[in-house]
Amino acid sequence: MRVAVVGATGAVGSTILGVMRERSFAADEIVPFASERSAGRKIDHGDRDLTVAALSEDAVRGFDLALFSAGSAISAEWAPRFAEAGAVVVDNSSQWRMSEDVPLVVAEVNPDALEGHRGIVANPNCTTMQTVMALGPILHEVGIERVVMSTYQAVSGTGQKAVDELHRQAEAVIEAKELPPPVVYPHQIAFNVLPQVESFQDGDDYTTEERKCMRETRKILGRDDVAVSATCVRVPVYTGHSVSANVQTREEISPDRCRELLASAPGVVVIDDPANGLYPTALDVAGRDEVLVGRIRRDPSHDRCLNLWIVGDNLRKGAATNAVQLAELLHVRGLLGAARA
Ligand SMILES: NC(=O)c1ccc[n+]([C@@H]2O[C@H](COP(=O)([O-])OP(=O)(O)OC[C@H]3O[C@@H](n4cnc5c(N)ncnc54)[C@H](OP(=O)(O)O)[C@@H]3O)[C@@H](O)[C@H]2O)c1
Repeated sequence: MRVAVVGATGAVGSTILGVMRERSFAADEIVPFASERSAGRKIDHGDRDLTVAALSEDAVRGFDLALFSAGSAISAEWAPRFAEAGAVVVDNSSQWRMSEDVPLVVAEVNPDALEGHRGIVANPNCTTMQTVMALGPILHEVGIERVVMSTYQAVSGTGQKAVDELHRQAEAVIEAKELPPPVVYPHQIAFNVLPQVESFQDGDDYTTEERKCMRETRKILGRDDVAVSATCVRVPVYTGHSVSANVQTREEISPDRCRELLASAPGVVVIDDPANGLYPTALDVAGRDEVLVGRIRRDPSHDRCLNLWIVGDNLRKGAATNAVQLAELLHVRGLLGAARA
């Protein structure tokens, strides 16, 4: 199998390459693509060095699979070209997620949606991904009427430049130096909390990230009747998004049954002994593929509501790991390249 990794030098792309190595992904050849700036750069890939290429009309030919994480504009332009040339694209950007003929898939939640693909498959938004890992089993057991989610999102979710910005600002504060002006975020992120993830567009008072969480959750769960409300917040954490979710179910479910259900859900680990200080944190999940859930408790204001604390590594399960899992499923199910034609 010949695989293209587009955006291979970025935060998600380099994690994709790492996850492929860890899972011994069955690729005969991997070609990393990035911008012209990085062309020619060598990437250490365990037993071999990979050389970064720039995108061009000729370079897109002959791939079975292309894993994209170079932003929406690159996906808009180049994903259809790879697909037309015979590859199946797994795209991490938001460009294709809500297109009707593009499946939006979480490997453990709706893998069968892959069957209907027409060359492009979308990987969900990181915060949505980890939240539906916990919502899926609850939906199947007792149904869900409404979810109110508040997120606490790490800076690596914005990419490498944001990680550098937090680092520089934190260093300046600690050393009592003049702070460099914020470039990536509208305000200082070090030692601060920003109630804005991404941007406000066309007079909307919800951000683009909040709109994604609301729409994508319904699409993945396959339920337009699940009401979702989201507030997305950026916090000075390097890696690991946290979500506080208030879940109103159709039938009542006890916190104990919910714990039992999630403990047996694939890809989910329950850590829930708050009296002994045991609950998941962003630092616990960084570097892990599972989604960690804790603080499962009844909402005292509503019999059919539970509160959950859901933590995931935004670069791994929130992006790279799920993308590689989808690639594996496409391969195993015979949904790549010639098999699709
Ligand atoms: N970070 C997360 O937690 C996360 C989670 C889910 C989804 N995503 C999505 O994944 C995508 C990438 O995010 P990221 O955080 O990895 O960003 P990033 O660290 O800024 O990396 C961007 C990548 O795109 C490449 N690129 C830029 N311009 C290009 C061009 N003209 N042609 C080819 N490649 C180009 C960059 O190459 P150079 O190094 O040469 O500039 C780099 O490899 C975004 O769509 C993002 O929304 C991110």
